[in-house]
Amino acid sequence: MEKLVIEGGQALTGEVAISGAKNAALPLIAASLLAPGEHVLHNVPDLRDTLTILRLLESLGLTWKRDGSTLTIDGTGLRYSEASYDLVKTMRASVLVLGPLLARLGRAKVSLPGGCAIGARPINFHLMGFEQLGVRCDIKHGYVEASIDGRMQGGTVYFDIPSVTGTENLLMAAALAQGTTIIKNAAREPEIGNLIDMLVAMGADIEGKNSDRLTIHGVESLTAAESTIIPDRIEAGTYAIAVCATGGDAVITQCEPSHLPSLLEKIRLTGASVEVDKNAIRMIAGNRNEKPILPVDVTTMPYPGYPTDLQAQFMALMTMSNGLSVINETIFENRFMHVAELQRMGADIKIDGRIAMVKGLDQYLLTGARVMATDLRASSSLVIAGLAAKGRTDIARIYHLERGYENMVGKLTGLGAKVWKEDE
Ligand code: EPU
Repeated sequence: MEKLVIEGGQALTGEVAISGAKNAALPLIAASLLAPGEHVLHNVPDLRDTLTILRLLESLGLTWKRDGSTLTIDGTGLRYSEASYDLVKTMRASVLVLGPLLARLGRAKVSLPGGCAIGARPINFHLMGFEQLGVRCDIKHGYVEASIDGRMQGGTVYFDIPSVTGTENLLMAAALAQGTTIIKNAAREPEIGNLIDMLVAMGADIEGKNSDRLTIHGVESLTAAESTIIPDRIEAGTYAIAVCATGGDAVITQCEPSHLPSLLEKIRLTGASVEVDKNAIRMIAGNRNEKPILPVDVTTMPYPGYPTDLQAQFMALMTMSNGLSVINETIFENRFMHVAELQRMGADIKIDGRIAMVKGLDQYLLTGARVMATDLRASSSLVIAGLAAKGRTDIARIYHLERGYENMVGKLTGLGAKVWKEDE
């Protein structure tokens, strides 16, 4: 197994280009199950998670090839309807095949993902939604067995909490249902808009993009199409925070600043300067001895609120502020696994339920230590802490990072960081 080693203390400078979004690529790849023919996807990041979902599609009978960041998936060979525990347990987004399998084959057997490092993460909303469209869903031997005779029938689905993959699964199922489906309190993340654009290019009839009420008029069949994955807002946000934490001055290119409304505002409140261009963000942080990082409170919320996927990274930044900040995680019940690791580096953080109180170290520095990555975003917060810390930080289990950050070592090196991989 490999670990990441960082020699901290370099201010990040220069330019970094953002890859396609993991959380858009996964549903768009799953959507290629919906129609035979060759689907072409551009700007697909080369990540462990994208490979996992492609392996899953292969196990269902599809074929694919990659040429740089362009992926061609042939949806013609779909013939199996089972997603095994081995594939789903490594990536819960595998449940995204449920909707397309039901739409195209009328049946699906998909392993329940089980809990994960950030919370229980049930899929009851997805199943309740399918039931509204007439699907029978049973749970047997750890699998969801879902089936319907004939086509699904349009219905009304209301989510108690806006669920990102739940909305995506229902969109894909309803696109081929008979009649009209309405999703109320739908999630509004930009990745959902990207999926809607792909479905519409395939021939789907969907109204309400970017709103919390989606209306899907089912069509009889869809055809393969060409789509482009949007830039990864979480990757862009992670680099923006890293530039601030190291007192750097850098330009983040090939990104979509309008997808980061809450983060950019929070960063401005820390005292850094943020200049936004059409597809670029320039971050100028300045040396924190001359210009302290101001403490800022954060509450995670569904989009356009502050993203839970950038909570751990912002907490790493707040450990270096000159005051007290309060971080409230409202989306996942167990997303503070990075706290114990940040404490090993000298951070002063207290947790009370879903609230973390972070007392900044002001003039003092975090100190490098051996730490352990526990999930994807927790890992990137340790990278940020390591980049700003005094001395060497060794982060074990970096396979978590490789699930969601394309070429992180190369990109950080390009920004002047001293970072490399070693065998553990
Ligand atoms: N929820 C339920 N029942 C459900 C579905 C969700 O109770 O059936 C709850 C969840 O437990 C959570 C809330 O609803 O409290 C929202 O969860 P959501 O369903 O939106 O999360 P998700 O679709 O499983 C996606 C991203 C996550 C991201 C969350 C929140 C993908 C593939 N994953 O997960 O990304 O944190 O939305 O924005 O899109 C990551 O990239 O590191 C990551 C974890």
